[in-house]
Formats: sequence, structure tokens, C-alpha cells
Amino acid sequence: MSVFDRAIAEAVPRLPRAVVRQVAGRYISGETLESALAITRRLNAARMTTTLDHLGENITRLEEAQASVDVYRRALREIHARDLAGNVSIKLTNFGLRLDARRCFENVRALVEEAASRGQFVRIDMEDSSTTSETLAIYRELRRTHENVGVVIQAYMRRSEEDVAALARMGARVRVCKGIYREPAAIAFQRREEVSHHYLRLVETLLRADCHVAIATHDAALIEGSRRILESLGGCSGRYEFQMLLGVTEPLRDKVVASGHPLRVYVPFGKDWYAYSIRRLRENPRIAGHVFRAMIGIR
Ligand code: FDA
Repeated sequence: MSVFDRAIAEAVPRLPRAVVRQVAGRYISGETLESALAITRRLNAARMTTTLDHLGENITRLEEAQASVDVYRRALREIHARDLAGNVSIKLTNFGLRLDARRCFENVRALVEEAASRGQFVRIDMEDSSTTSETLAIYRELRRTHENVGVVIQAYMRRSEEDVAALARMGARVRVCKGIYREPAAIAFQRREEVSHHYLRLVETLLRADCHVAIATHDAALIEGSRRILESLGGCSGRYEFQMLLGVTEPLRDKVVASGHPLRVYVPFGKDWYAYSIRRLRENPRIAGHVFRAMIGIR
């Protein structure tokens, strides 16, 4: 992470809201579910699937968790009614994790059950390290009764190798990403090469265990490394997909699709776009650097 990127990240919250909206707009489909469904239709036509993420801030009341469940229920219903190829990604803190872990579990179970009734899938995103153990515990409990749920592993976390070994034993569906939150060196690798090395090891372990793996990255070297692993294991058809965020590295995305690999786009929508954009930019100075370069046209 360069000094330049860090300086930009710290400056981003002081930018006018309208500027942030314009710059971050490419990363968000819009404020409404309708906008996310429209993008899904467009991406489906271009041979890509999606996962919809409703942007919500850390909730403070359990009624807000119920509102999250309702939005996602509507999303799943509309995806199905319109015959779209998409699923949903949820954050447990928006389902009440910090307020009441049991209620959070019940909220997620209700959604996963509804999804199962139509053959749909729910992915549980991974948030900062204060939630990792609880997220995995909730996932394990859900997985006892439901197949249509997946979780995320962050390659920068030192514990991930052990977590992946346990997930591999249970045949979990796992998205592997680098990890977006700032975590201390005691628990997370800080150097890019270490994270990348760990990333590919995790992907390989999961694929060798016959798990379904979502390879979520825009890093061309990791895509190539994963492609080699897939090839060495005979292709792994139907057991993997690449995933990218909306608006990021579109030429690379198109190249992956043109090579015949399945690719899913993560599509955030919702009124809380501002807080989401700012937090994301601050959490990942490298992304803030991309944004600034985009603003001044030196991408
Ligand atoms: P890296 O950050 O090195 O980016 C590789 C290249 O991609 C850059 O050099 C640049 O060219 C380009 N790039 C990346 N971001 C860009 C941007 N915003 N604008 C323009 N160009 C950009 N994290 C987490 O902690 N929990 C989670 O649940 C998820 N879920 C998730 C789902 C999906 C589908 C994706 C793709 C990512 C996540 N992440 C996540 C985020 C992930 O952990 C990571 O922070 C980002 O994907 C960036 O890491 P890369 O692997 O893309 O590499």
C-alpha cells in the first residue's frame, strides 16, 4: 500500500457527497432493487450471473434486521419471478449478529429456507475479524440442515488455513477473497505476496476436497494461478466460478467470460451507498487510489 493511496484514503471522506456519488457510482447499481434486477438482466445477457448485496449500515435495532430479511426475500422472489440468474449475499451484522446472535441465526435461517423452496442460494459475506468465529459457527449450524448456503474465507487471515480444512471436510461452498478490512499483523498477513500465496493454497485445498469454490478476485495473477490449479485438477467443471465486483476491471472480466469460465458479478444496491462507499474506500486505501486515479483520468 503506497503513501499516495493512504493519503487519498484519508481525504476521501472530505470530498463532497455528489463527487463520491459520481465516482463510486460505477460500483453500485442504484438505490433500488429494481436497479439491481435491471443490471442482472443485462449481465445475464452477457453470460454472467450475479449476487445481489443490499447495502445496509450496522444496525442498532432488531426491527432493522427484519427489514433486511424482507428486502432479501423480495430480491429472491423477483429474481425467481423474472427468471434471472442471480442469488444474494448477506452480511450477518445486518441480520442482527451484534445485537442477538440467536435472532440473527433465525433471521438467516428464514431466508435460507425461503431460498431453498425455489432452489436458490444464499452467500454469507465475511466481515471484520470480530465476527469471523460467530459467522463460521452460524454457517456450520445452517449447513447441518441446508445445502443452499455458502460462506466466505479471507486469504489474509492467518487462521484461514485451519478454517478451510474444516470447511473442506464438510463439503462447504466457499468464496475465497483476499479480505477488505484492516486487520493487525498478529492475525492477518500484510504482505501482498503472502496473501496471494495463501489465497491459491486455499483455493487448491477446497477444490481437491470436491467443494464448490467461488474465486473472488480482480488480480490477474491470482486468476491465472487459479486457472492453472483448475486445469491440473481436470477442469473442475460445475465446481467453481470466478467472481468480481460490479464496475471493477471490466476488460479482465470480459476476458474470463470469453475463455468460457463461469463468472458472477457482485451487485450492491440500496440507499446506504454513501456510507458503504466511504467505508470501503477508507478500509482499502488501494481501492481509494484506484478511485482517485479514475477521477483525474489516469487509470
Ligand atoms: P487487488 O486489490 O490487488 O486488486 C487487483 C487489481 O484489480 C488492482 O490492481 C486493480 O487493477 C483492480 N481493482 C481492484 N479493486 C478495484 C476498484 N475498486 N476499482 C478499480 N480497480 C480495482 N472482502 C471481504 O473481506 N469479505 C467479503 O465477503 C468479500 N466479498 C467479496 C466478493 C466479491 C465478489 C469480490 C470480488 C470481492 C469481495 N471482497 C470481500 C473484497 C476482497 O476481499 C478484496 O478486498 C477485493 O476484491 C480486492 O482484492 P483483489 O483480489 O481484487 O486484488
